[in-house]
Amino acid sequence: MSEERLRAVRDRVRSFPDFPVPGVLFRDISPLLKDPVAFKALIDLLEDHLRASFPRIDVIAGLDSRGFLIGPSLAQRLGVGFVLIRKKGKLPGPTESISYALEYGKGCTEDALSTLQAELEIQSDAVEAGQKVVVVDDLLATGGTMRAACELLVRLKADILECLVVIELKALGGAAKLEAIPFHSLLQYD
Ligand code: PRP
Ligand code: ADE
Repeated sequence: MSEERLRAVRDRVRSFPDFPVPGVLFRDISPLLKDPVAFKALIDLLEDHLRASFPRIDVIAGLDSRGFLIGPSLAQRLGVGFVLIRKKGKLPGPTESISYALEYGKGCTEDALSTLQAELEIQSDAVEAGQKVVVVDDLLATGGTMRAACELLVRLKADILECLVVIELKALGGAAKLEAIPFHSLLQYD
């Protein structure tokens, strides 16, 4: 049953070579979002995994922007709140921010690389100290984005239960960058 759901999800991920820059094989979840059966299978799988892994979850945190497509549905299923970790300049009020580099920077010239630095932000009151948080995104590549998000949550003294993604690009070794923070992916690609 869970194998069937996993297949339904995998079948709805498309790959585009050389997007957004040469050398990157882009994994596109648009077909997964467009297919209500496959999207339901995805949320079912993520919910089952979290319920089996953690007796208590307080908050789902999602990463800008594709984590926003998955996190709120999952949070609703679990009966918990959803918080935004956004690219810089989008969140009002006091925030914490951190800069990080994108996978797309790999193999580019130094000039291009400098434009591929990004900054993430969280509202300072998004989570309370000690709250148990699961961080959700569509994909882990180098792990830079996820690691930066975790650093923001650590600054707010959250208890990070797990980083959870749909797709892990194994060859880029992103999970190692998360060090001791637990990590789980539904689908793995070389
Ligand atoms: C993508 C993806 C992850 C991140 C993974 O987002 O959705 O958030 O890259 O890369 P990393 O593990 O190398 O950091 P992107 O920054 O392209 O933003 P988007 O979701 O707004 O397209
Ligand atoms: N974000 C970073 N690397 C990516 C890839 N290869 N496909 C889709 N999104 C990404």
